[in-house]
Amino acid sequence: MQILSGKEVAQNVYDTLTDEAKHFLENYGYAPTLAVVLVGEDPASQSYVAGKKKACLSLGFGHKDYHLPSDTSQQQLLDLIHQLNEDSSVHGILVQMPLPEGLNPEEVIRSIAVEKDVDGFHPQSVGNLLIGNPGFVSCTPKGVMEILDYYHIETAGKHAVIVGRSNIVGKPMASLLIQKGRDATVTICHSRTKDLPSITSQADILIAAMGRPHFITSDMVKDGVVVIDVGINRIEDASCKRGYRLVGDVDYEHVAPRCNAITPVPGGVGVMTIAMLMKNTMQAAKQFASKEVK
Ligand code: GUN
Repeated sequence: MQILSGKEVAQNVYDTLTDEAKHFLENYGYAPTLAVVLVGEDPASQSYVAGKKKACLSLGFGHKDYHLPSDTSQQQLLDLIHQLNEDSSVHGILVQMPLPEGLNPEEVIRSIAVEKDVDGFHPQSVGNLLIGNPGFVSCTPKGVMEILDYYHIETAGKHAVIVGRSNIVGKPMASLLIQKGRDATVTICHSRTKDLPSITSQADILIAAMGRPHFITSDMVKDGVVVIDVGINRIEDASCKRGYRLVGDVDYEHVAPRCNAITPVPGGVGVMTIAMLMKNTMQAAKQFASKEVK
């Protein structure tokens, strides 16, 4: 059984991006730059945003922070995004989700210029992915593909079963795996799927992304499966300093012995998300620079 270390893959991505950022700065005189917008005081969002800032700084990327109060109006937020769309020193824009109640996230996402949509959430980015056109791919499913590639896990002809149909993970994950060249046969399961174990146990590659701690148990998988655990769930644990610990959607302890390969939590898919955001920001900056030169 092989442990698929997101930590190792992410480090590899960061090493490459550090070099690329250095060359980019030498060639163009400015650094790839990400603007991160946070509205309100949600502690988890604050910690995610801090992680994104830290990654930018460690890679030598530019970083602009916009922290707006929770009573920000939709129009004020749209005005800021418009300003960032027009700002040629900003290559990527990320609006941290979820937004406080009362704000319309879909309108906010649509207002981000597609060429700066490093989250890959814009309907046009999602459509490009589905069609197989170039564009930004949502960071978590992109991170899963990076892990599969790094460990040379073949997807062609394999039955990939995705549990979870979210716009951020399940749907883009399916789009990626059915692309020509990836060539997986994909089944998407969700909360209304009948007899889930009968389907998950057919999976050659099982992607768990429903956000329910330890939901996938050993009786739900076949021997030799590759398991990708996208879940990051906090469960109470008085023996931990923080009072909780992080677990995946997969009952790792009992499922792992049946697997060919599995991602751990933490240290699996989770750490890939910011690495892919940085990769998308580099892509956005390169596209900007190549247009500027022309
Ligand atoms: N909230 C949780 N994950 C994400 C993400 O990948 N991007 C944004 N913008 N918000 C999030």
